[in-house]
Amino acid sequence: MSEPRASVAMPHTRVAIVGTGYWGINLVRTFAQDRRARVTWICDRDREALDRASMQAPGARLSRSFDEVLDADDVDAVVIATPAVTHADMACRALAADKHVYVEKPLALDVAGTERVRVAAQGSRRLLMAGHLMVYHPAVEYLRTLIDSGELGEILYLYCTRVNLGRVRRDENALWSFAPHDISMIDYLLGAMPVSVWATGESYLAPGVEDVVFVNLKFDSRQMAHIHLSWLDPRKERRLTIVGSKKMAVFDDVSSEKLRIYDKGYDRPPQFTDFGEYLAIRSGGVYIPHIKMVEPLARECGHFLHCIESGETPTTGINSATRVVRVLAAAQRSLDQGQRVTVD
Ligand SMILES: NC(=O)c1ccc[n+]([C@@H]2O[C@H](COP(=O)([O-])OP(=O)(O)OC[C@H]3O[C@@H](n4cnc5c(N)ncnc54)[C@H](O)[C@@H]3O)[C@@H](O)[C@H]2O)c1
Repeated sequence: MSEPRASVAMPHTRVAIVGTGYWGINLVRTFAQDRRARVTWICDRDREALDRASMQAPGARLSRSFDEVLDADDVDAVVIATPAVTHADMACRALAADKHVYVEKPLALDVAGTERVRVAAQGSRRLLMAGHLMVYHPAVEYLRTLIDSGELGEILYLYCTRVNLGRVRRDENALWSFAPHDISMIDYLLGAMPVSVWATGESYLAPGVEDVVFVNLKFDSRQMAHIHLSWLDPRKERRLTIVGSKKMAVFDDVSSEKLRIYDKGYDRPPQFTDFGEYLAIRSGGVYIPHIKMVEPLARECGHFLHCIESGETPTTGINSATRVVRVLAAAQRSLDQGQRVTVD
């Protein structure tokens, strides 16, 4: 089924958005607003979702069939925002149809799925990017420059809180729904894979679907990370705390002051190198850097378009998406087995 509308001939990336539910409609809006793109198709199985999304991109054709979109000759790139269980197959099919692919997080629900996408991407001339939104957040990018410049010192540990009283999902647990954000952010900031994971969780609202999950990651170095995920919590919190040997940082995404840098820690007088009792507390100032806020989703979609135009590899391409799924899969195994597991 299609409803052709008048098209405007422009040398832009012609984008089809597939899955226009809760999140996909934001992608329709964002690509429709980007001068470098033209949304030529919108696809959803659900008629109402399709109609709602069509208001964001009035020039687009509408379809309820993914096949119809893949067959269309006015589609350069396919943006997939369907439920996670469909991602790997749809990404492979879009690559096989010679389309660039943006796929929402998580890339797949197991490592085998990511490997199938990897093979498809390697056999294609087109690029694949995963929608790991936090990596495109200006505050996270700023944190990365602080870490890379050594301003925080050696990163000792970090922890993330992603909780609210929110949408209860039945097709994926809080780990697969929320943790891709935190794991991709940790991967981007530390540039290291954890060696082991221990996760615990409980299903309070829907049998077999954990709504509350605690994840602990250990790295080869002494670094640790902790992630608290829940859609059964009285407060909405989106926070990352990083403790470095020189300074500490808190990124609070629900605050207007996104980032605070604390010049706090312990100083060790040079003449005493062994004894903890000679550590002196340094409680210096706190500063809030000015960060020019641009909507992370606009930056993310813009990055996808930029990579298509320039041939650059996306920051969240197949390799980082695969690392994220490897950690998620290990965390799920730990949840299932009730013990710490190594990351494959
Ligand atoms: N980046 C973020 O911050 C963020 C936030 C929320 C959701 N997401 C991700 O976006 C994806 C979608 O989540 P959602 O909350 O929008 O789900 P949703 O259920 O609200 O929407 C999914 C849509 O896909 C459609 N659909 C399913 N199978 C289809 C098919 N084969 N062809 C065409 N349409 C199909 C459904 O009809 C539905 O409208 C998930 O992967 C989720 O993890 C990302």
